Order: sequence, then structure tokens, then C-alpha cells
Amino acid sequence: MKARRVVLIGYGAIAADIATALRAAPGPGYALAVLLRPGSSSAARVPEGVSVLEGLDAVAAFGADLVIEAAGHAAVRESVPSCLALGLPVLISSIGALHDEAIFARLVEAARGGRGRLLLASGALGGLDYVRAVRHAEQLDLRYESRKPPAAWAAELHALGHDPAELAGPVTLFSGTAREAAARYPQNLNVAAALALAGPGFEATRVDVVCDPKAGGNTHVVRASSEFGTFSLEIANRPSPSNPKSSWIVAQSILAAVDQHFSPVVML
Ligand SMILES: NC(=O)c1ccc[n+]([C@@H]2O[C@H](COP(=O)([O-])OP(=O)(O)OC[C@H]3O[C@@H](n4cnc5c(N)ncnc54)[C@H](O)[C@@H]3O)[C@@H](O)[C@H]2O)c1
Repeated sequence: MKARRVVLIGYGAIAADIATALRAAPGPGYALAVLLRPGSSSAARVPEGVSVLEGLDAVAAFGADLVIEAAGHAAVRESVPSCLALGLPVLISSIGALHDEAIFARLVEAARGGRGRLLLASGALGGLDYVRAVRHAEQLDLRYESRKPPAAWAAELHALGHDPAELAGPVTLFSGTAREAAARYPQNLNVAAALALAGPGFEATRVDVVCDPKAGGNTHVVRASSEFGTFSLEIANRPSPSNPKSSWIVAQSILAAVDQHFSPVVML
């Protein structure tokens, strides 16, 4: 069997963890390339033996079996539609970009037209299988709370006049819909978007964002109640050592999705 050919979009904290694991995977293994914006400083971190691509023509020429986006909302807008139009399956981590209905529609159209497929990783969250199962429940109430330490919200706290190092207690930064949350916090609220898309949609998914000096990590609480029963889930993720805004587990979630993508047995 030939090595699977994978293009990573971006080479930051998450992509580097993914690349390390895929490069160490046993046979047939993976041949990797990285798509970056021309002149990106991330190119210097890409390991030897992994090609750096600087445009969609190079992605097409690489002959990818799978594209993985770990770059941010802008990359979903800039590069993912063309990859889908090339007929490629594209696994995205920046699911929050889909809060924009026009972008979402464009991606779906590109996937349909090019016979590509947009794949959504569960990322920092779990339990999306349950949320999917109750998404049409008549009495569904779905709530999500993000609770992170001040390091993850330094800029936002400064903007509100708080010193992140001196925060005495929890500060609620936001309460509203998943659509507003994903739009306002592109790096932090991808999880709210994943939940909304698995569940009843962006408007019907309620979100609270809390900054808490006592938070032991990036904590996600999901509560659902419906005629089918109740569900509650709490996940405390460690921040990525290279980017406190991202949870360390995200790369592992994407790697699990890559496994599923190439596996003859799929758990849905
Ligand atoms: N689904 C989830 O649970 C979840 C959780 C955390 C992060 N994320 C997403 O993953 C993304 C990456 O996280 P990270 O911690 O690796 O970030 P990072 O800042 O460490 O790295 C981002 C990388 O993407 C590159 N990049 C930025 N814009 C680009 C573009 N338009 N085209 C190509 N490359 C581009 C940067 O140069 C850098 O290499 C985040 O922006 C976020 O949207 C999702």
C-alpha cells in the first residue's frame, strides 16, 4: 500500500503535533506537505522532508488524499473552497468559520460541485454523537460553557480594563448564541460552532464564555435536556504548550479523525 498523501494548511501548534504523529506512523505511513501563505514565518519550522506549498496549484500537483486545515478562519475562507472544488476531502479544525452563512453555503457548493467533502473534527469537545442524536428533539435545550484561565484571554481582559495577572474571580466575557460567540472569538469558540452544527444550529445553541483564574485548564461544559433525557459533560483540557488559546487534545482529535477517514471500519 502506498503512503497516504496529506496536505496540512498551516504549521502552528496543532499542525506540528499532527505532523509529528503522522511522520512516526507505521506503514503505509504518510507523505506530508504544508500549505502556507507566501512568505509565512511558519515555513522555518516545517521539518526537513516535508514540502512547503505556496498555492492551490501546488496542492493539486501534490496529489493529496486528504487536506487538513489547522490554520484559522481566514484559511477556511481562502483555501478550503478551492481544495473542495479540486475534489479533495478537507478536514477542518476552524469550524467557527462556518458561523458565516455565506461561507458555509460556498463550501457546501464547492464540495458538491467538485465532489470534495468537508469533514468536521470534534476538536476540543466530545459527546457530539449524543448531541447529533437529540438534534431534532422537540424539547431540546442545549447549553455550552467555556471556562478558561486568564492566559487564554489576556488581550480580551486588557480590553475590558482587567489585568490578567490580578484577576480576583471569574469574569463572564460573553453570553449569547453560538453564532455570535464563533464570530466574536475565532480562535477560542470553534467548539461552540461544532456543538451548534452537531445539534440544533447556531441560533438555538446557547453559549457562556467565562474567564476564571481558578480554571485548571480549558474547561468545556455541555448540558442538554430533551424528551429523551438529560446529558451533561465536562472536559478539562490542558492548553497546548505552544499556544495557550488552543487545547492540546485538538491535534489528537484530528489524528483520530484521520484514522477514521482511512479506516475500513468507521464509528459514527
Ligand atoms: N475545533 C477546535 O476545537 C479547535 C481548537 C483549537 C483551535 N482550533 C483552530 O485551529 C487553528 C490553529 O490552531 P493553532 O493553535 O495551531 O494556531 P497557531 O497560531 O499556533 O498556528 C496557526 C498556523 O496557521 C498559519 N496560517 C494562518 N493563516 C493562514 C492561511 N490563511 N493559510 C495558511 N496558513 C495560515 C500560521 O502561519 C500558523 O502556521 C486555530 O486558529 C483555530 O481556528 C480549533
